[in-house]
Amino acid sequence: MNNLLQEKLRSELGNLSAEEGLKLISEQFADRTVFSTSFGMEDQVITHWIGNAKMNIRIFTIDTGRLFQETYDVHDLTRKKYDVRIDTYYPLTASVENLLNTKGPNSFYESIENRKECCYIRKVEPLRRALAGAAVWITGLRAEQSANRNAMNLVEWDEQYQLIKYNPMLSWSLPRLTSYIERCHIPVNTLHKKNYPSIGCAPCTRAVLRGEDIRAGRWWWEASGKECGLHTRK
Ligand code: ADX
Ligand code: SF4
Repeated sequence: MNNLLQEKLRSELGNLSAEEGLKLISEQFADRTVFSTSFGMEDQVITHWIGNAKMNIRIFTIDTGRLFQETYDVHDLTRKKYDVRIDTYYPLTASVENLLNTKGPNSFYESIENRKECCYIRKVEPLRRALAGAAVWITGLRAEQSANRNAMNLVEWDEQYQLIKYNPMLSWSLPRLTSYIERCHIPVNTLHKKNYPSIGCAPCTRAVLRGEDIRAGRWWWEASGKECGLHTRK
């Protein structure tokens, strides 16, 4: 995308609400707009808007094969409630088989390198396939979630995937998000009530303790980093 177009889009979207921004994007980029959901609270709000207004945005999720049952429950509830199709991408069978045959089912606990390898096989490679051919990628990222995410922009050019990345929830605070969810009766993962503010794969997510950071339960045994490679900026 050239700089002029990027600037134009940035200023247009900057003046709109997240919901209006999604509408604008879906109209301008028609069939080439995709939204990735992990059924987190932010994602649920976006799906609520897409589903209710029947926006022309393809929704997809990546099923790593290691998710919580509660995540499948909210997945099922969401597709039924909003009558939306959610394309599900899986890791490549041969890659998972090879990983388990060589390193076993718990290799991610043994080193950061192993953890990143598992995330690459189960998340990043499927993401590549899911984004193929897309012009715009919508995410539920929020700036408050981490320092890395705080440095992100509402609209960015994603060099790695060669597309526009649009993060409509970027400026939303957690209280704003939770009160919106309550007010609009949006279904969310039941694990949130059990102190899981951020939910990924089951073996790599734990509940947070009072006073802990909202992402403290993700890859909790690692001191820093705490990103799986889906949103690394190049
Ligand atoms: S993660 O990188 O730490 O796992 P997080 O759970 O905070 O990400 O979610 C941030 C955004 O990344 C979500 O709003 C969603 O757009 C995308 N995302 C994360 N996990 C998945 C997934 N399994 N399938 C599809 N999108 C995902
Ligand atoms: Fe593998 Fe854990 Fe990454 Fe899921 S979060 S892909 S189980 S290392």
